Amino acid sequence: MKNILITGGAGFIGSRMALALVAKGYKVTVLDNLSKQIHGEFPEEMSPLYNSIKDKVIFVKGSVTDRVSWEKVLLDQDVIMHLAAETGTGQSMYCIEKYTEVNIQGTALMLDILANTNNSVKKVLVASSRSIYGEGKYIHPELGDVYPKHRDDKDMLKGDFKVKYKGSDNLELVATDEESKIHPSSVYGITKQNQEQMIMAVCPTLGIKPVAFRYQNVYGPGQSLSNPYTGILSIFSTQIRNGNGIQVFEDGTESRDFVYIDDVVNATILGLVKEEANGEVFNVGSGVATDVFTVAKTLVESYGINVPISINGKFRLGDIRHNFADMSKINELLGFKPSVSFTEGISRFSKWVLEQEVSEDKLDDSLEEMKSKGLLK
Ligand SMILES: NC(=O)c1ccc[n+]([C@@H]2O[C@H](COP(=O)([O-])OP(=O)(O)OC[C@H]3O[C@@H](n4cnc5c(N)ncnc54)[C@H](O)[C@@H]3O)[C@@H](O)[C@H]2O)c1
Repeated sequence: MKNILITGGAGFIGSRMALALVAKGYKVTVLDNLSKQIHGEFPEEMSPLYNSIKDKVIFVKGSVTDRVSWEKVLLDQDVIMHLAAETGTGQSMYCIEKYTEVNIQGTALMLDILANTNNSVKKVLVASSRSIYGEGKYIHPELGDVYPKHRDDKDMLKGDFKVKYKGSDNLELVATDEESKIHPSSVYGITKQNQEQMIMAVCPTLGIKPVAFRYQNVYGPGQSLSNPYTGILSIFSTQIRNGNGIQVFEDGTESRDFVYIDDVVNATILGLVKEEANGEVFNVGSGVATDVFTVAKTLVESYGINVPISINGKFRLGDIRHNFADMSKINELLGFKPSVSFTEGISRFSKWVLEQEVSEDKLDDSLEEMKSKGLLK
């Protein structure tokens, strides 16, 4: 399986994946529309991600929502890595048609073409997301494993950000495994669930092996520093380098599982080459929960730029409190273990950030946008 098509292959994860695969001798084709939100106003001239791959892959500028674009790239492909997507959780709550068009309709079109044309595709890997789980898994002292619903805004407006199950906040946070309940709390999460389920349901009927990866919060060199809608590490970095204070939402103890880009690429490549991956879904994270205040503090220290960090008690509707990955399955089936610790990853990330030009801090505009839609409280 030497010929690989990566949709969204000019993006943060896709470009790193493309370069890793080319280095291993694969022939890589990329289908990407060079979206302005990710690649800027003049992507061909200005996008460092696009420029890092353009001479190493066969690049086709086009959209996954366009049949003609698919027809241009499918010839002789053995594998599709489907990464193209709209990726902002908050933004998905008001750009609903756009998110469903690109993520759901784009995937539907890919499968429709695979089902109805002659093609050589043998395997499809999809970038799913931890957002499909919504709030993570907890243990209740009497009820055992529970999957709390989205938190109530009335509690959060009073500064109570704890997760509750049937009125009780006596819950122990545990790692979320692949068998955990799927109950996304954003349109983005719904589209990722839908992508994953369509691919897992349709591909086997076509004799194609599907694999889905539920990535946690991926970070590292190449992450967009100008997109205010995704990537908390980038958003904080751009604020710090502009000398602006960081406003941490909720009470700062909300947490995420941050996984380094090269670990994500390596896990996905194991899914490509190992037969044990076929037909399976895998969590890909670090398996460690890190709270958002710690993230802000670590970044301020690593840039050595002393901006204030304040905890503002605000919150975004649709945000979860905690979720970190149970990594047992990918470890047992594919032998994968993340190798880059948060401390090491942040050091590599911030070194890379300091080599980039300082981006304009557009966070306030994006927050105003969310506020005007009633999504920021
Ligand atoms: N980065 C993360 O933390 C993370 C976490 C979970 C899942 N994922 C998933 O991984 C995948 C890659 O994410 P990323 O962080 O590299 O995002 P990214 O935004 O950097 O890359 C996405 C790429 O898709 C392209 N694209 C957007 N719409 C397109 C369309 N209609 N047709 C063709 N190309 C289009 C963009 O131009 C961009 O190059 C996505 O599917 C995302 O949902 C990412």
